[in-house]
Amino acid sequence: MCGIVGYIGAQKAYPILIEGLRKLEYRGYDSAGIALLDSDHVEVMKSVGRLQQLEDKVGEFVPNGTIGIGHTRWATHGRPCDLNSHPHSDCTGQFVVIHNGIIENYQVLRSWLIREGHSFRSETDTEVLAHLVEHFYSGDLKQAVRCVLEKVKGSYGLVVMSEKDPHRLICARKDSPLVIGLGVGENFIASDIPALLKYTRNTLILEDGELAEVTRESVVVEDCHCNPVEKIIFYVEWDAISAEKEGYEHFMLKEIYEQPKAIRETLRGRITADGLVNIPEINLNQEQIKKLRKVVVVACGTAYHAGLVGKYVFEKLLRLPVEVDVASEFRYRDPLIGADTLVIVISQSGETADTLAAMRLAKAKGSHVVAITNVVGSTVSREADHVILTWAGPEIAVASTKAYTTQLIVLYLLALQLGQTSQLISHEEIITITDAMKNLPADVDSIMHKTEALKEFTQRLSVWNDTFFIGRGLDYAVALEGSLKLKEISYIHAEAYPAGELKHGTLALIVADIPVIALATQPELHEKMWSNIKEVKARDAYVLAITTEGDEETKKEVDAVLEIPATLPLLTPVLTVIPLQLIAYYASVSRGCDVDKPRNLAKSVTVE
Ligand code: F6R
Repeated sequence: MCGIVGYIGAQKAYPILIEGLRKLEYRGYDSAGIALLDSDHVEVMKSVGRLQQLEDKVGEFVPNGTIGIGHTRWATHGRPCDLNSHPHSDCTGQFVVIHNGIIENYQVLRSWLIREGHSFRSETDTEVLAHLVEHFYSGDLKQAVRCVLEKVKGSYGLVVMSEKDPHRLICARKDSPLVIGLGVGENFIASDIPALLKYTRNTLILEDGELAEVTRESVVVEDCHCNPVEKIIFYVEWDAISAEKEGYEHFMLKEIYEQPKAIRETLRGRITADGLVNIPEINLNQEQIKKLRKVVVVACGTAYHAGLVGKYVFEKLLRLPVEVDVASEFRYRDPLIGADTLVIVISQSGETADTLAAMRLAKAKGSHVVAITNVVGSTVSREADHVILTWAGPEIAVASTKAYTTQLIVLYLLALQLGQTSQLISHEEIITITDAMKNLPADVDSIMHKTEALKEFTQRLSVWNDTFFIGRGLDYAVALEGSLKLKEISYIHAEAYPAGELKHGTLALIVADIPVIALATQPELHEKMWSNIKEVKARDAYVLAITTEGDEETKKEVDAVLEIPATLPLLTPVLTVIPLQLIAYYASVSRGCDVDKPRNLAKSVTVE
């Protein structure tokens, strides 16, 4: 997501900060900013766009400061623009803050600060931090930051600098990484190791709840009870490229493993303490919802597959008919939609040309358009009537993974929100579902520890040029995503079939030892699936089943099994897809393919 750098020493801070931010560019950002402390005066420079735009703006007149902080922002609260870029300052301009994460209670704090006489310049959650530091400062910057941290809820990696206390930087972390780089007569702060590697490999990695006071000569770390913490120096041995991948061999693997965290971010603040759903972005009232005659989901590729899961979820929970369409088809088929249609467009990037065109068409026909996207400020997010962000963080690998699972989470939340407002779903049912959703990050995490069976199966799969994914109901929708993932990064031809449809033609392709992945997680369809598994086993296919823990019957039928943790059947797609992503990944690696940049494909498809 966003990038943080800080420097305190004897060298000019500006080039060090710019260089550090450049090393974090791979994480994605939409604006950048720097604050330097020059002759006891804080100078803030920021710009929307790339780092180069910031450098152009600063021009030749770079302040001389030897203390500074810098930030690249991936917009969350407030669109990408100069004013919303970090660093943020208090009313006096004496305190500056950079921050990664989300301050969940910022609206309450902002209203309180405004009543206290503070005036705000940006739309961000971060700006409250600067005003809070100003409010609490009484001669000790560290103490002021401590008071601020007691007030805020949410996640943060933050650095505070002030001309009132020009010999230190204060930084703190909760659920957002922060690393301190140790130099001689100088020290560095960063959200990720790549920003430090040019200067030092000796680092202190802050843990959640820790706060550090960083001067030229020293770093003092305290825990959340103000007790000193003896930190172990971690020597970084990786090169810069591996550091960007945080030790993972590929961005795709990193992003697969980031899913528990990404799902937590998607859920954050959207389930109330009593288990109901809170998506204020959807302000349709009960009457408007009851007037809806159908839902149409429009998207491309993986996002379209998320939409297919959404169809099952919406139809089951809301009993509303749902159509799911590929955007490039929808836009040219004069679709039957109008004011009584809820059109949901799903796009990780928010810039896919066909999805944009489909969205514009839906708006022109008077439908309510809800966008589900990962990118704040993207065209989709600017033009839709309602926007729900997935908060998955930047996805760098071309093959979409964490975007898909977080799109699913948003679709569940959206269906529940509509059902809650319109009273089509009882509170008991909502609470049962949200309770199970809260366990999903841990459930996903547990699957990541079961990779052996998948690696073994992939060895067999990698020597074939064809494979089949079969499933029924929600499992079929996920099978489509599994097959797309395998095709795009391993170049193995894969077909996803509704299991009951095989015998209408495709069964002719099932030969001895051909790998078949059978998804069998839906209890009410188990017996039907067993028959279909038997059909392929009778032709000697080699079958890997993805089942739910405790399903002994399916195990008996197949050659290999991967069990996902038991959850509500409706929620299984979030879990079932994880082994499929891993299978695609291992197959791609074992065939020597370019995992992160598969041939002929681009991350953002901005042409028709
Ligand atoms: C597949 C993949 C693509 C995208 C599709 C839509 O792994 O990433 O199929 O899902 O190009 O992209 P967005 O979601 O950005 O509209």
